[in-house]
Amino acid sequence: MKYLVSTITLLISLNLFAQQKVVNYDENEVPNYTLPRLLVSENGRKIKNTKRWEKIRRPELLKLFGREVYGKIPLEIEIADVIVHEEAGEAFDGLAIRRQVELVFRKDDQELSVELLLYLPKDSNDVPVFIGYNFNGNHTVADDPDIRLTESWVRDNPSLGIVHNQVTEQSRGVSRERWPIEEILEAGYGIATMYCGDVDPDRDNFQDGIHPFSYQLGQFRPGYDEWGTISAWAWGLTKAMDYLSTVADVDSSSVIVFGHSRLGKAALWAAALDQRFAMCISNNSGCMGAALSRRQFGETVGSITKAFPHWFCENLNKYASREENLPVDQHMLLALVAPRPLYVTSATEDLWADPKGEFLSAVEAGKVYQLYDLEGLPVSEIPQPDSPVSGTIAYHIRTGEHNITSYDWRQFIDFANKQLTKEE
Ligand code: GCU
Repeated sequence: MKYLVSTITLLISLNLFAQQKVVNYDENEVPNYTLPRLLVSENGRKIKNTKRWEKIRRPELLKLFGREVYGKIPLEIEIADVIVHEEAGEAFDGLAIRRQVELVFRKDDQELSVELLLYLPKDSNDVPVFIGYNFNGNHTVADDPDIRLTESWVRDNPSLGIVHNQVTEQSRGVSRERWPIEEILEAGYGIATMYCGDVDPDRDNFQDGIHPFSYQLGQFRPGYDEWGTISAWAWGLTKAMDYLSTVADVDSSSVIVFGHSRLGKAALWAAALDQRFAMCISNNSGCMGAALSRRQFGETVGSITKAFPHWFCENLNKYASREENLPVDQHMLLALVAPRPLYVTSATEDLWADPKGEFLSAVEAGKVYQLYDLEGLPVSEIPQPDSPVSGTIAYHIRTGEHNITSYDWRQFIDFANKQLTKEE
């Protein structure tokens, strides 16, 4: 008996030790690593100018991220219908108009509806617009009683009244602090959002959302190199862009795609794939977002593929604990946004997302901006908290936790003002 107890105690402590080792938060434990070369093509050709970047390296990297990380989008599908639920509702005491549309996709007997909520400053035209997903339904972004409730699957959260995977009135406006919509409108921007789960519910199940549209008869999940949930979300953003290009009051050459956390990963991938997005904001996107995987600091390829396997294509599993074999690293994803303005943020308490890895990745991506005679980041050392730095890439590390706050938004607006202002 005594022997048994001490064996169990030993096993428990070994296990605890192993768990502690799994997450590294110690800069001294970051392995020596060499990043895959951004500006050398697969057959060894130096990428010295924008022409070679655009013709050779950019397509190669898009292919690699598609095949090995997020999964290729195996589907060409257009919006079949736009159902306009509201054309120009008055919102925010007359500051804005609210438009709500349902983008409908159809294939054979399948149908998918994605609801888009758009606020535009009243009486303005040619408006630049921020677009990004929300986590729990459009109605969570503002205390606006007229925002429609999603009927899609939402993760249960009884404290918000989300039960049986359906939202209720109780969650109206609960995320408003993350969405300073009045400030955005007052600054002259529109803002559009969709619930990510309309496009693909965030669960390990490939039977819902857009995925089944791409299946052959008898197929129940995407192929090894085909889209996980992040690619599905990125696809949804490109479809929202299709719609925004048809809205007369929107300046479709100034659409800024943004996202927080997992949705920041999707925003980056969408901006990489679709060059119609004029600017991209990655807020605390971390592992498989902005952060360098080879640092293995905080969340790693091993932990993310274990906890959220459905976000990626199956091929990514090969690189769990084998980051050095990845043919890409995340600086290459950031570089795919070039030459368009890019904002990367971190937060001091968000070590899980590896702030330093997000910063270093942005520094490296600057090499492609330089091909365009643009300065990426103006510094090579991580700045002090709450001290934004910017070239055509911007970066700040905010004091506080994993979140998107009005402080972050003020910096995004300032940066967009600087970068998107047209020369008269
Ligand atoms: C988890 C996950 C992160 C992700 C985050 C989020 O923490 O590990 O990769 O960014 O959720 O989306 O909030």
